[in-house]
Amino acid sequence: MSEGDGPSDGVSVVTGAGQGIGRAVAARLAARGSHVVCVDRVADSAARTAARLRAEGGLATECTADVSVAAECEAVAEVAAGIGRVRVLCNVAGISPFATGVDRVGEDLWDRVFAVNVKSVYLMSRALLGSMRSGEDGVVVNMASVHAFAALEQSAPYAASKGAVVALTRQMAVDLAPSRIRVVAVAPGAVDTPSSYTGALGLGADATELAILKDPSHLGWLADPDDVAEVVAFLSSHAARFVNGTTVVVDGGMLAQLPRSS
Ligand SMILES: NC(=O)c1ccc[n+]([C@@H]2O[C@H](COP(=O)([O-])OP(=O)(O)OC[C@H]3O[C@@H](n4cnc5c(N)ncnc54)[C@H](O)[C@@H]3O)[C@@H](O)[C@H]2O)c1
Repeated sequence: MSEGDGPSDGVSVVTGAGQGIGRAVAARLAARGSHVVCVDRVADSAARTAARLRAEGGLATECTADVSVAAECEAVAEVAAGIGRVRVLCNVAGISPFATGVDRVGEDLWDRVFAVNVKSVYLMSRALLGSMRSGEDGVVVNMASVHAFAALEQSAPYAASKGAVVALTRQMAVDLAPSRIRVVAVAPGAVDTPSSYTGALGLGADATELAILKDPSHLGWLADPDDVAEVVAFLSSHAARFVNGTTVVVDGGMLAQLPRSS
C-alpha cells in the first residue's frame, strides 16, 4: 500500500504508540489496512513508530500529545479528522508506578495516575466521538490490567485506576450503543515491555523471578506485546461485532492460578 491509497480499514487512533503494547497495536492495525494516528507524549517515540509503520508499507501519522490534557486530545482529533473518519480508538497510554500503597503514595502521584490511566479515556473518547458517530462501526478499546481483578502488594493507584477503566468501559458501552459504537477493554497480565521491568524491579523482584515469568510453560508467563495486540486487533474488527461492554483478560492463565503453598 502506498501513501496515496485510502485506508481500507478507516482511521485508527492509538495512544501510547511510542513503545510497548501501544506500538504493537499500531503495527497490527496498520498491517490490516488502517491509517494509524500514532499518539505519544514523547515526540521522538511517536515519530519512530509512525516511520516504522510507513517503512513496512502501512499508512501512519505521528502525533505528539499528553492524553491527560483536554486541549491536546482535541488537537489529536483535528489531526485525525484531516485524514478521514475515525473507526477505531485504542486507549493504550498508561503509567504504572509501583511501590505505592495508600500509606506511601502522595496525592500528586495518585492524581497523575488517574489523569493518565482514566481521565485520558474520557478525554480522547469525547474528542473523537463526533467522527466515530458518523459511521455505524466505531470501536473503542481500552487498556485495563489484571490489577483490576487481583491485588499485588503496593499498587494502590494503579489497581484502582485499572478497576475504573473496566467500569468506564461498561458504562461507555451502554451509553454509546445507540451510536453503534462498541466499547471493550483488554486486561493483560505481565507483558514484555520496558515498564514491566521497571515495575517489577520497583517491587523488589530480581532477575530470577523475571526469568521464571518468561518460561512459557508457567501460567502467567510474560507475554509478547504482539500477544495483546492480536486480541486488540480482533476486538476492533468487524468479526467481533457482538462483543461489547466487556473486558477480555489476556494473561496466560495468571488469574486462574491459585498460589502454591511452598
Ligand atoms: N506491560 C504490562 O505488563 C502491562 C500489563 C497490563 C496492562 N498494561 C497497560 O498497557 C498499557 C501500555 O503498557 P506498556 O507496558 O506498553 O507501557 P510503556 O511504558 O512501555 O509504554 C507506554 C507508552 O505510553 C506513553 N505515555 C505515557 N503517558 C502518556 C501520556 N500522558 N500521554 C501520551 N502518551 C503517554 C509513553 O510515552 C509510552 O510510549 C498501559 O496502560 C499499561 O497500564 C501493561
